[in-house]
Amino acid sequence: MQEPTNTSAWQVLWSHYQEIKHAHMRDLFREDPGRFEVFSLQNGPVFLDYSKNRISWETMESLFDLAREIKLQDKIRSMFAGEKINTTEDRSVLHIALRNRSNRPIYVDGEDVMPEVNAVLEQMREFCGKVRSGRWKGYTGKPVTDVVNLGIGGSDLGPRMVTRALEDYAPPDLNVHFVSNVDAVDISRTLQNLSPETTLFIVASKSFTTQETMANARTAKQWLLKELGDERAVSEHFVAVSTNTEKVREFGIDPENMFRFWDWVGGRYSLWSAIGLPIAVAVGMDRFEELLSGAHAMDEHFRSADFENNIPVIMGLLSIWYVNFFQAGTQAILPYDQNLQYLPAYLQQGEMESNGKRTTLAGDVVDYHTAPVIWGEPGTNGQHAFFQLMHQGTRLIPSDFIAFVNPLHSQQEHHEMLLANFLAQTEALMLGKTEEEADREMSENGKSRSEISRLLQHNVFPGNNPSNSVLLQKLTPYNLGALLAVYEHKIFVQGAVWNINSFDQWGVELGKQLAKRILPELREKKRFEDHDSSTSGLLEFINTTAKL
Ligand code: F6P
Repeated sequence: MQEPTNTSAWQVLWSHYQEIKHAHMRDLFREDPGRFEVFSLQNGPVFLDYSKNRISWETMESLFDLAREIKLQDKIRSMFAGEKINTTEDRSVLHIALRNRSNRPIYVDGEDVMPEVNAVLEQMREFCGKVRSGRWKGYTGKPVTDVVNLGIGGSDLGPRMVTRALEDYAPPDLNVHFVSNVDAVDISRTLQNLSPETTLFIVASKSFTTQETMANARTAKQWLLKELGDERAVSEHFVAVSTNTEKVREFGIDPENMFRFWDWVGGRYSLWSAIGLPIAVAVGMDRFEELLSGAHAMDEHFRSADFENNIPVIMGLLSIWYVNFFQAGTQAILPYDQNLQYLPAYLQQGEMESNGKRTTLAGDVVDYHTAPVIWGEPGTNGQHAFFQLMHQGTRLIPSDFIAFVNPLHSQQEHHEMLLANFLAQTEALMLGKTEEEADREMSENGKSRSEISRLLQHNVFPGNNPSNSVLLQKLTPYNLGALLAVYEHKIFVQGAVWNINSFDQWGVELGKQLAKRILPELREKKRFEDHDSSTSGLLEFINTTAKL
């Protein structure tokens, strides 16, 4: 297993970087009228234009060499073959099996996982059919009007993002809600307008021990029992998605109403499993399977296309180029579609929990950067908030602009404005505005020489800000599945180059441990532990002033 910095491609990239770092994309486009054709490609529904990046073909060739040198193809093959590439947890990484619509056998410990995957899909289909048709009755015999998903992290962000994205495909008489935060505001606000008689809870937790989810599940149970008054009501109003049968039973959920998944599905990669149940309830099982099919088609592309024609590989390598050579610390995700409102939050977990690591697979501390900070907002809102910094600030922020050519609505005028802004922003970020252009513009607008000299620098845009443009025809379940798989595999490519384990998350443990230790100190308003003076001081402040 090779560290990227020890490869010869890395050295080549360093000297190439010295040559290209000051090149302006404005000039690169002027010099090569074919740049768009060279640096764009399509696979299935996903069209990627990566020509507005600070690259030449030499850059890409060296990046592909890097991918070859770190044996990316072998690493991809290992994942698809079910090898235990999550080495610190000794687990396979098989979200690709969940959407393996070809149904070819995929083995874990010598056993084909596909029959189990298909059985759970069947169980989901039956359940969704019952809930959506009104055949699933609550304790008092009424059909379900509201489904509440109780989960956090991967058991919330993926299903929440997709359910919101596909809202146009969902019937209006069945509402799907998401509660994740342990802050009681989240669950109280959600439950205040619901009736226990017609509400069904999905407790979604791989471990079934996550503090926040279990607290919300207990509160939901109390709320239900307060009204319905009979423990037996729990089995008609609660189902679970988990790997932990024992804990599910302990909670009072009928194991018949438990949807299984497996330790080879990482939380942040789990929306394709039964964790996607709220999606399937909202849009129906057929559409859920279309989502899986779109992702599967992208999986096939990722594992079989040459690096030069491979969308996730290209996107992953571009990210390496900016993080490790340009030292970009962040990456913006900018969907120009309100339906993709939660995509940036979903990808924050996807990329930062996967690749926010500092230890190589061999256990050494890295001496290069890994995952950037992921952030973003839907366009055009972001333009009126943080785009100022992207255009004229001091930091390099690579960004992904994502849009659909055709909207799901018929408001043509709105959509044209949305797409005009999508195109204008990537153009403006790339081109910028020179001193001469700013000067000319101001004098054409009648500004005096003294005003021009006072305002000139404020009107200059350096440009040369890189972006990818990702275009799809329409937001459909299939297309969304393909888009999400692109990002999952992009994250895989980054992790492979950085030689880290993208599939564990040890870094979330310390805070959880300490919160468990501090909780009794708040409950009993007493300090039991030795803390640093700041933590002790804050604890004391809360305990002496809290009114609850
Ligand atoms: O805190 C991190 C994490 O373990 C995530 O990786 C996971 O998606 C989330 O918590 C929820 O975990 P669970 O599904 O076990 O409740």
